[in-house]
Amino acid sequence: MGRIPLISGNWKMNLNHFEAIQLLQKLSYELRSHNFDSVEVSVHPPFTNIRSIQTVIDADRMLFKLGAQNCHFEPSGAFTGEVSPAMLKKLDVDFVIVGHSERRGLFGEANEMVAAKASAVFSHGMVPIVCVGESLEERENGQAEVVVEAQIRESLAGLKRDEMSNVVVAYEPIWAIGTGATASPSDAQEMCSHIRSTLASMHAPAAEKVRIQYGGSVNASNVNELMSMPDVDGALVGGASLEAASFARIVGYEDA
Ligand code: 13P
Repeated sequence: MGRIPLISGNWKMNLNHFEAIQLLQKLSYELRSHNFDSVEVSVHPPFTNIRSIQTVIDADRMLFKLGAQNCHFEPSGAFTGEVSPAMLKKLDVDFVIVGHSERRGLFGEANEMVAAKASAVFSHGMVPIVCVGESLEERENGQAEVVVEAQIRESLAGLKRDEMSNVVVAYEPIWAIGTGATASPSDAQEMCSHIRSTLASMHAPAAEKVRIQYGGSVNASNVNELMSMPDVDGALVGGASLEAASFARIVGYEDA
């Protein structure tokens, strides 16, 4: 065991760089250094804010890890509008979310592309947070486990053995994202446990090491119960990460 929980704030397409700095400073004010003793915390601003956030983290010696929300899989080239993993690494980015359901659903990213991105993130010395999750229809048809298992197998295909142990997986059921309809702790646990068995079948040592986050309407009131589940090792937070006080309460869930 010994997995250090990872709580990540996915700011999505919100906040300009002034607003992003303000949020980070408020968050830093709300948290105490002991909050970082037992939990890792990453913030994932839009690309235009990463440089500003990096500078503030660095200047004020903040303990936040820096994250991105996406990247391309090539290191450079004629890919208009894209941002490469090499560029993110140069800004001291630690974690890159890949395969978020909004990227899969709205921008046509399939498992194969997610796999290429996850490998590229690792090969540039960062850690991918690979997102998986079923739709409401898939859950109602009893296909949730089959769908998520296929996403795991295909999105992590091509990772090297050591990478398999270091990847972060985020289980985000699509029906729970931005809806207020959080998965029950037992449903979250059941799927995270299934993900861990799938990982074990792919590379046995990975199973006990990989951190599996739950995401989907996580807030200060439900985080504690979700985090008490044995296979839930963190949270990927959207809406509630945009408000300093609520994200601080999520990060400090152990104090509640
Ligand atoms: P919400 O927390 O707003 O439901 O978003 C979850 C999410 O998509 C995080 O990546």
